[in-house]
Amino acid sequence: MTVLTGDRPTGPLHIGHYFGSLANRLALQDTHEVFVLLADYQVITDRDLPGEIQRNITDVLLDYLAIGLDPAKVTIFQHSALPELNQLLLPFLSLVTVAELGRNPTVKDEIAHSSQAAVSGLMFTYPVHQAADILFCKGTLVPVGKDQLPHIEVTRTIARRFNERYAPVFPVPEAMLSRTPLLGGLDGGKMSKSRGNSIALKASEDETAALIRRAVTDVDRRITFEPETRPGVATLLTIAGLCSGREPRELAEEIGDGGASALKRLTTEAVNEFFRPIRKRRAELTEQDARAVLAEGNERARAVAIRTLEEVRQAMGF
Ligand code: TRP
Repeated sequence: MTVLTGDRPTGPLHIGHYFGSLANRLALQDTHEVFVLLADYQVITDRDLPGEIQRNITDVLLDYLAIGLDPAKVTIFQHSALPELNQLLLPFLSLVTVAELGRNPTVKDEIAHSSQAAVSGLMFTYPVHQAADILFCKGTLVPVGKDQLPHIEVTRTIARRFNERYAPVFPVPEAMLSRTPLLGGLDGGKMSKSRGNSIALKASEDETAALIRRAVTDVDRRITFEPETRPGVATLLTIAGLCSGREPRELAEEIGDGGASALKRLTTEAVNEFFRPIRKRRAELTEQDARAVLAEGNERARAVAIRTLEEVRQAMGF
C-alpha cells in the first residue's frame, strides 16, 4: 500500500492539523510507504499570488520534521519540482467532462469563499492535477479531511477510465478519513490559519497563553461539555483533552465551578506541555536542514513520476 497526502503551504501548521492529520501520518510512516506533498501550485487556485511561498514552504517543512516525520521513511516533495505532474494533467483532463468539473462541491464552496474578482480555469481543473498527485506514485490510500472526498472521487474516476480506455496502469485509491473531528477555532468558528483563531504548532508558550486567554467562552461559571450549546467551552475542553489524553467530559467535571479562567489555565498548560518537545525540536532545526530534506524528497519523487509518465505515454501510444 502506498500512502499519499499533502498540504497547501499557505502558512505554518496549527494544532488542528496535528490532531486531524499529522498524528495519523506519524503512525503510517512505520507501516507504509508514505509520500507527503507540499502542494505549492495549489496555493494559486483561490488567490492571485503565491504570496510568501518560500517562507511558508520552509515553515511547513520545519513543522513536519519537528513533529517527527522521518525523511528516511517519508518522501516529502513539492508540486513545482515535478513537471511530470503537469504532463499527466493533460491526458487526465481528457478523461473528465466539463460538467463533472463544474459539479465538484468543494470547488463550488471555494469559489463562494474566494476573494478573487473572477474564477480562474485552475479552480476547476486543480482536482485533476490532484489526481496526478495521487496517481503518479500509484497511491492506494489517501488520508484527507471530508472536504477532500470529491477530489478523491475525481481521482478514482480518472484511474478507472484510464485503465479501461488504455491499459491497467493505475490502482483505484481509497480515501482515509481521520477519526478526530475538525477542531473548532478559538472564536467558536472553524479552526483556520487565515482566520487568526488557531494555535500554531510553533507558537511560544506565552503566545499560546495569550491566544487561549482571548478565546470565546460564555458567562456560565459551571463548566460542562456541551458542543451544541456551548461551542467555545467545548472547543477548549476538546483541545485540553487531546493534549492530555483525557475525556473532555471528565475534565469539565474536574473544573466544575472554576469558570472560564480555570478552564483556560488548564488548556494552556495541556497545550504547552504536549507541544513542548515538538517546539524544542523545531527550534533546533535549521532552514538548511529543511531544504536538504525537500531536495532529496523531490529527487526521489521525480524518479517515480518519470517512470509513471513513461508508462502512461506507452499505454496511450505516444
Ligand atoms: N487539496 C488539499 C488541501 O487543500 C491538498 C492536496 C493537494 C492533497 N494534493 C493532494 C491532499 C493530494 C491529498 C492528496 O488540503
